[in-house]
Amino acid sequence: MYEGDIASVLITEQQINDKVVELAKQVDEDYQGGRGGDLLLVGVLKGAVMFMTDFARALPQPAQLEFMAVSSYGSSTSSSGVVRILKDLDRDIAGRNVVIVEDIIDSGLTLSWLLKNLASRNPASLEVCTLLRKPDAVQVDVPVRYVGFDIPNEFVVGYGLDYAERYRDLPYIGTLDPKVYTSGA
Ligand code: PRP
Ligand code: MN
Ligand code: MG
Repeated sequence: MYEGDIASVLITEQQINDKVVELAKQVDEDYQGGRGGDLLLVGVLKGAVMFMTDFARALPQPAQLEFMAVSSYGSSTSSSGVVRILKDLDRDIAGRNVVIVEDIIDSGLTLSWLLKNLASRNPASLEVCTLLRKPDAVQVDVPVRYVGFDIPNEFVVGYGLDYAERYRDLPYIGTLDPKVYTSGA
């Protein structure tokens, strides 16, 4: 699939799977007893879809699933920090234990905005679980409790992550061959 577009495989399907199970165990342990039984996962469309569905199924305890779609104003290649809600949550999260599920933290601007927005709705607790984070790209520090992999500041696609809406359906995470974004695709 996408023959020749992927320069290298950064994280294999097996590595993703192992990490998802590990993260789900961590979250499960943290949400036992007093905090347990009321877990609400908020997936951020569209990038987090693959991670969200795998994570929810790997989680040993029940969780409810909600989705939000947001979009930053301005160019698609650099976040502006100004975010617009394209699809809001269907339900009230007041008093709930909420975990935001993201595929990647790049500049951190999307998540920083989202955290403020969701915190203002008075959840009982609010944490973030992201599969990927790019420490060298972070512009704003976001408190993130669960991180799958810290990765280099390279353009990555697959497992939900896109370039111009393509490659989300790859089962692994790979780096994109620069010819793809220099050929005007
Ligand atoms: C991507 C990614 C994160 C966000 C991270 O989403 O899925 O949500 O950007 O970037 P940031 O840390 O610099 O804010 P995108 O806006 O491309 O939408 P998508 O999930 O639909 O691809
Ligand atoms: Mn996204
Ligand atoms: Mg995207």
